[in-house]
Amino acid sequence: MLLQKTLLSFFFFSLLLLVQSKHNHEVEEEEEVVTRSMFPDDFIFGVATSAYQIEGAYLEDGKSLNNWDVFTHHPGGRFGEINPSGLMFYNNIIDNLLLKGIEPFVTIHHFDLPQELEDRYGGWLSPHMQEEYVYFAKLCFEKFGDRVKNWMTINEPNVFTQFAYMRGTFPPRRCSLPFGNCSAGNSDVEPLIAAHNMLIAHAKAVKLYRNHFQPKQGGIVGLTANAFHYEPYTNDEFSYQAVERSYAFNVDWIFDPLIYGNYPALMRKYLGKDLPKFSKEEVELLKGSIDFIGINHYSTFYALDCFNSNDCTSTENRAIGGYTGRAIARNGIPIGDEMGVFGFRIVPYGMEKLLNRLSLRYPNTSIYITENGYCPPNYQEGTELLQDFTRIKFHQTYLASMSKAMRKGAKVKGYFVWSFMDNFEWIQGYNITFGLYYVDRNTMKRTPRLSAKWFKDFIANGEKSSTISTF
Ligand code: NOJ
Repeated sequence: MLLQKTLLSFFFFSLLLLVQSKHNHEVEEEEEVVTRSMFPDDFIFGVATSAYQIEGAYLEDGKSLNNWDVFTHHPGGRFGEINPSGLMFYNNIIDNLLLKGIEPFVTIHHFDLPQELEDRYGGWLSPHMQEEYVYFAKLCFEKFGDRVKNWMTINEPNVFTQFAYMRGTFPPRRCSLPFGNCSAGNSDVEPLIAAHNMLIAHAKAVKLYRNHFQPKQGGIVGLTANAFHYEPYTNDEFSYQAVERSYAFNVDWIFDPLIYGNYPALMRKYLGKDLPKFSKEEVELLKGSIDFIGINHYSTFYALDCFNSNDCTSTENRAIGGYTGRAIARNGIPIGDEMGVFGFRIVPYGMEKLLNRLSLRYPNTSIYITENGYCPPNYQEGTELLQDFTRIKFHQTYLASMSKAMRKGAKVKGYFVWSFMDNFEWIQGYNITFGLYYVDRNTMKRTPRLSAKWFKDFIANGEKSSTISTF
């Protein structure tokens, strides 16, 4: 197996590997069945991974330290210029994908960045990161853009900034009480500042791409955010407002600026001066700066109103700003079956409701589900989990839900399973297994789970239906 030849001593990719198949069948209407033919001919199916989560070999072949190396290992330092081995590594991946008829979707920045930038600027807290990011994005467009036609600039700025600067559970581990106990940080404002810099960095990179690369290369560029669906906790006006606030502070926070040029009104209202402001030039730069919305969707929560109720007992479940919280059960009844990542529950109908809402708020923008996946709650070593029926059912029910939203008009263009293979689940380490492929952590041997076969058959077979039952 290939060792990692990490890219350019710089940021790292994530790859969404796309497999496309052609079919000409009528759309099925039965709700208990999901088939390939329920989706348009040009609909894209694929699987997703990210560099740091699967590559390993953290100091080999000219790669320098990144923030996650330092966070998960011991401090050191070894910085470098563009790493030719890194370029070669990704060139090989891209070429081989294309050779196999798999079209790459590339995320330019997926959580990890060179430690040097953390040390020098304090990472994304500094506006200098905007230029650093554009430099790297330009390099990617230059070196890979002849073959890569689908770009995501940044993965989950809404999750990354909350973990890194509000809760302090991701590098650079900054936060303040009551959200976390870090040596430095300010949980109220720093995540907002970091996200602000990421959004402007995105918009600058897109401007560059559109002016200098898109005309010749002809690709598209978007950004991916995490998006849960939120259900009201109680049946009153306050709960419905809490749903709106939850969406505003988690999802609209990212996409409103990229589509309309400014933060959602609810964030401006509640956060006041704590919310950074875009200059007039930045508003123009941001407005319409995505060709598509990328959504990583896993779960649904009950939205808690932290103003008018005593329901928000734990800071752990509070959204940015602390104005809303989230719960996974109501009256002792869980919202869905448990998954391995803490708080994730299986709620297939959330996919449809989320997509309906996104379609109303951003009616003219295409959507890709860039991640959707299942990890079992209890980690088991070995091959016991190769017969992963729950994962198959998870995808069948979420796909059926997605297809309902599409029939109502949601412009969904693609769906990627997270993940191609078991990987490193950040602070939850190696005990979370999202893969269609099982990875033996000792030998690195990859074995397809039943779900890998199911997904392959599902994509390839437009007529054969797979019957599903609901969770
Ligand atoms: C979102 C992130 O992009 C990815 O890195 C992570 O492994 C999955 N979701 C699962 O939590």
